[in-house]
Amino acid sequence: MKQIKIDGGNILSGTINISGAKNSAVALIPASILSDDVVTIDNIPNISDIAALNEILNYLGAKVTLENGTITIDPKTIENKEIPREVSSKLRASYYFMSALLGKYKHVEMYFPGGCKIGARPIDQTLKGFTALGAEVKEEDSKFTLDAEELIGGHVYLDMPSVGATINTMLVAVRAKGLTIIENAAKEPEIVDVATFLNNMGAKITGAGTSEIRITGVDKLSGCFTEVIPDRIEAGTYVIAGALMGDKLRIQNIIPEHIEALTLKLKEMGVDIDIGKDYIVVSHSDRLKHVNIKTLGYPGFATDLQQPLTPLLTQCTGVSKLEETIYENRFQNVPYLNEMGAEIEIKGRTIEVHGPTKLVGTEVIATDLRAGACLILAGLKASGTTVVKDVDHVLRGYENIIEKLTNVGAKIVLEEI
Ligand code: EPU
Repeated sequence: MKQIKIDGGNILSGTINISGAKNSAVALIPASILSDDVVTIDNIPNISDIAALNEILNYLGAKVTLENGTITIDPKTIENKEIPREVSSKLRASYYFMSALLGKYKHVEMYFPGGCKIGARPIDQTLKGFTALGAEVKEEDSKFTLDAEELIGGHVYLDMPSVGATINTMLVAVRAKGLTIIENAAKEPEIVDVATFLNNMGAKITGAGTSEIRITGVDKLSGCFTEVIPDRIEAGTYVIAGALMGDKLRIQNIIPEHIEALTLKLKEMGVDIDIGKDYIVVSHSDRLKHVNIKTLGYPGFATDLQQPLTPLLTQCTGVSKLEETIYENRFQNVPYLNEMGAEIEIKGRTIEVHGPTKLVGTEVIATDLRAGACLILAGLKASGTTVVKDVDHVLRGYENIIEKLTNVGAKIVLEEI
């Protein structure tokens, strides 16, 4: 078990470079097996979710090298065999193999994916996409067996703009016959990244980044090179760290437009922030105003940033209201923040944060990835020592978090216990 110990109250200044996007990389890697030739992907973050996907690739028999953030995948030697429960349950993104294998081999056997326990997270919309394209879905004891004699383009209306269902449907549709239309598609930048990658391989996808995506299937996808976009959630997390403790903290190698919903809220609070072409410089401020926030699909306020933002809301004067509309159970960080001195009430899907309150270090638990990020940020602000337990969740999604924060002045260590 690993824990992170933080001595709070230190000013953060200098530069943090942002890594490749976790939620893009974890889709690009499974997508690569749709190719008939070698693909290379650059700017792969060094996080444990990538290691888990690598394990699946190796298990399937792909030839893989991963060095200095560049992964090369030769899918020609893949054997399409059942992916065991222990592997698929390590992360949510394992189910991108379900669609990639179905698209390529028209048969797949694997178990329900894992991921942070922040809500029920069913996969009905993904299965709806598969069925619309001609696959037969059998489920027994969380094991899915999918078969298709032929995959034929179809018209899919998603009940909600699900990131996973949009990507999964695209991955099958690129190898199906004819035209697939996905309506009410998710618009996240990671979806555009996956579509661009597939188009580089020879796929015919238009409309990615809008709510209607059109895919005309092709018989063959060839090798290609791509680079993962910067991680907007990692960027947002460090921008919030700067708003809490920064003195001209520079967050670099980002696409600021991807976190505009966050930066507009920070400006509304009164945060001192300067937005450049590919960087943001942010400093802490003693007087911040409360705000109201509602999480939404992109370009709305990202659910993945609501937990990291909460420590900053504790420093705003007045009552901030934050409504979580995507997940049913994404406030598990709140009781721990209250133990640190916050005054936060949970009212159904909304929290009310009364501020400003002083935060004091104590022992807390990272129940999930972004809850862990939240508690680390709170620890940077708090007086005394904060110990965040169960930080394996955090290491799944933040590359070199200890080094990145240490380099800008934080007193933070990772301990094996
Ligand atoms: N949903 C359904 N049925 C489905 C699919 C989704 O009811 O078939 C519901 C989910 O339960 C959830 C909502 O729709 O309440 C949104 O789910 P979505 O499918 O969009 O999320 P996801 O693809 O499972 C990805 C990211 C999440 C991020 C969400 C929303 C990956 C691997 N994960 O999840 O990232 O919160 O999109 O932007 O890409 C994280 O990084 O901390 C994280 C949880």
